[in-house]
Amino acid sequence: MTKKTSNQMWGGRFADGPDAIMEAINASIGFDKRMAEQDIRGSRAHAAMLGATGIVSDSDAEAMREGLLTVLSEIEEGRFEFSTALEDIHMNVEQRLKEIIGAPAGRLHTGRSRNDQVATDFRLWVRDQLDAAESALTRLCQGFLAQAEAGADWVMPGFTHLQTAQPVTWGHHMMAYVEMFGRDLSRVRDARGRMNECPLGTAALAGTSFPLDRDMTAKELGFDRPCANSLDAVSDRDFALEFLSVASICAMHLSRLAEELVIWSSAQFRFVALSDRFSTGSSIMPQKKNPDAAELIRAKIGRIFGANVALMTVMKGLPLAYSKDMQEDKEQVFDAADHLMLALAAMDGMVRDMTANRDALEAAAGSGFSTATDLADWLVRVLDMPFREAHHVTGSLVAMAEGRGVDLPDLSLEDMQSVHSDITDDIFDVLGVHNSVASRTSYGGTAPERVREQVARWKEKLA
Ligand code: ARG
Repeated sequence: MTKKTSNQMWGGRFADGPDAIMEAINASIGFDKRMAEQDIRGSRAHAAMLGATGIVSDSDAEAMREGLLTVLSEIEEGRFEFSTALEDIHMNVEQRLKEIIGAPAGRLHTGRSRNDQVATDFRLWVRDQLDAAESALTRLCQGFLAQAEAGADWVMPGFTHLQTAQPVTWGHHMMAYVEMFGRDLSRVRDARGRMNECPLGTAALAGTSFPLDRDMTAKELGFDRPCANSLDAVSDRDFALEFLSVASICAMHLSRLAEELVIWSSAQFRFVALSDRFSTGSSIMPQKKNPDAAELIRAKIGRIFGANVALMTVMKGLPLAYSKDMQEDKEQVFDAADHLMLALAAMDGMVRDMTANRDALEAAAGSGFSTATDLADWLVRVLDMPFREAHHVTGSLVAMAEGRGVDLPDLSLEDMQSVHSDITDDIFDVLGVHNSVASRTSYGGTAPERVREQVARWKEKLA
């Protein structure tokens, strides 16, 4: 018999060991060792339950729980030797446990399979990431709140098509991002709530004949309840896909913001100065201060969205229940999570550190005929003109100003009256940018008082 080279965990019916290529394509230990802590947490909960239900003796359960802690400390201290021949983290841990405690280690896998084990480990890992994302997003929103509070009444141009549209306040623009990242936060919480069910004890696919207490293991691992269908429990990766889709939307938001920071920090705009801590220089052009962090954050959506598409594609053709295809889930999620967390941290630093250039913002706010809508609204309000006609009259005034190379407030009353004789001097009041933003008091509008209300509301929500 050549039995000694076959796998010790499942080699019973094998005469020969795997080909080196087979081992290379099959092994996941190279990446799933990142779930060692979760694997051991899950196994310790399972061992405690096996003891409590009398499926194994108390002393065996205790030996397993203690031995697993030893394995964990070996891994944490970098003293553990991972083996590709043992395929994955589950078998690496169990084999080492056997070396440490001997025979009782063989009872750990009672009423359990690697299928429910990996599903449990991965849920625990993803859940930790959702928790980390929740903290990171809360912090990021708080950074925007500080910016919004400081500049609730600073004026800047608001854009559509990246063309000057109407003046807005800096605070209002900052609060738009709080709304966006606030939605990400609520998506993170939704995803966490939905995924928090425990697959452990559903075994290979059909459940088990051992009298497991699945409520006990679920509770011990912080899950709300055990998964109710064993086939679904071992084959479901929705929790990973939800994480990736939440991460994709969040990365898209980060990317849009990054794009604004790249534009705003350019010499042509000068709306903000990024701190030295979050900028880089050029090796040839001494004057340069580049927004590299923003550019990299802008690019992160590529790999995060890629991971989402990759895992959707892996899952789409799989019959119930477990298929080995699903082993391809982890690297995508690990990579997306690492880069999302890094992007969130870098954005948080940039937002907190950035200085708005109030003068440049104000100068830009008044250019580009940004108060043309205010002029048209004045014609409607004071002269009772239909809006469509007011739009036309204002258009003529804009054309006149443009022809002379001046802004709307630079036209004289006579100029205005040459287009419409009923216009009076009062019209100049609405052409100033501060009056313009102060007048936009509709709910959700840019007026400083409205911005301050939203800052207060969000402060309470995020507390
Ligand atoms: N390494 C495997 C994975 O990540 C663990 C589950 C293996 N199960 C099996 N039936 N071969 O999916």
